[in-house]
Amino acid sequence: MSGVKTLSEFIIERQDDFPYATGELTRLLNDIVIATKIINREVNKAGLVNIIGATESENIQGETQQKLDVMADNQFISALQNGGEACGLASEENDHELIFKSDFAKKGNYVVAFDPLDGSSNIDVNVSIGTIFSIFRRKSKVGEEANLQDFLQKGDEQVAAGYIVYGSSTMLVYTTGNGVNGFTLDPSIGEFCLSHPNMKIKEDGKIYSLNEGNYPFFSQGVRDYIEYCKEDDKETNRPFSARYIGSMVADFHRNLIKGGIFIYPETTKAPNGKLRILYECNPMAFIMEQAGGAATTGKQRIMDVELTELHQRVPCIMGSKKMVEKMLTFL
Ligand code: AHG
Ligand code: MN
Ligand code: MN
Repeated sequence: MSGVKTLSEFIIERQDDFPYATGELTRLLNDIVIATKIINREVNKAGLVNIIGATESENIQGETQQKLDVMADNQFISALQNGGEACGLASEENDHELIFKSDFAKKGNYVVAFDPLDGSSNIDVNVSIGTIFSIFRRKSKVGEEANLQDFLQKGDEQVAAGYIVYGSSTMLVYTTGNGVNGFTLDPSIGEFCLSHPNMKIKEDGKIYSLNEGNYPFFSQGVRDYIEYCKEDDKETNRPFSARYIGSMVADFHRNLIKGGIFIYPETTKAPNGKLRILYECNPMAFIMEQAGGAATTGKQRIMDVELTELHQRVPCIMGSKKMVEKMLTFL
């Protein structure tokens, strides 16, 4: 025995933790993992072949799509369309939800939302990027076509969520509502192996992460909190360290391990912030809460927010509980 626990072994072992332990979620997670491994392979050779750089097209949010965005999106679509567990998907790169039409897929119990590549602006400069996914049980009837309402569920309804960070090593972190576990890809055997069991974020931290270049557009409360982070006060370990990669997944992952707060607030230019609730904020909020941290818009818990549209944005503040609570006192 090697003593190594692979992700597939772990998922099967934990199958009973899940309220509908029929094996479907296990198969769905495995489909996602396979897509992820393919994306990882492509991301890793991004500089070698002609796949970095922008495409000619824009997504619905007016952002230029990167070639790897489109490739990653396609990987997920084909993995899920052929898997039989999902009846539809939604992603950052598709204007509308994608409803699977085959009789096979219509029997699927789940819908999946994902950000196929997070931090696209970092692709061309060899800086960590990620993938985020979120899984819901469908609301529509099994056997019929899924619809938009299946995706507009509150974060609290998620049955599983996870992310992959393509960093100095590739890691997958996920939750099904029974804690958070992290797996590192061992490239020599092509398997994610359990490396970070039962991940917990520190109650308090010393890192704050936000795009401070937007300072002129922040509310007074956010500005005051930033000033607080920079004050010299030995007792409360301030000034804090500023760390901002610009890939939510990578910033979140660092803060999860070290303790810290990640902030993408509303600005005068973007009154709901930048990040999308369905495939960015909700899955990360689920993981953050499961790891003992907090996730809020500044006004309410992220996972309580009602969704009215697919690409809805919300302000996002998440991290160590005490840091989030402290920031709220400024808002
Ligand atoms: P995506 O690449 O999926 O569009 O997401 C980018 C997001 C997120 O990863 C990051 O936290 C944020 O955009 C960075 O935005 P700024 O460049 O405005 O700081
Ligand atoms: Mn993103
Ligand atoms: Mn993206």
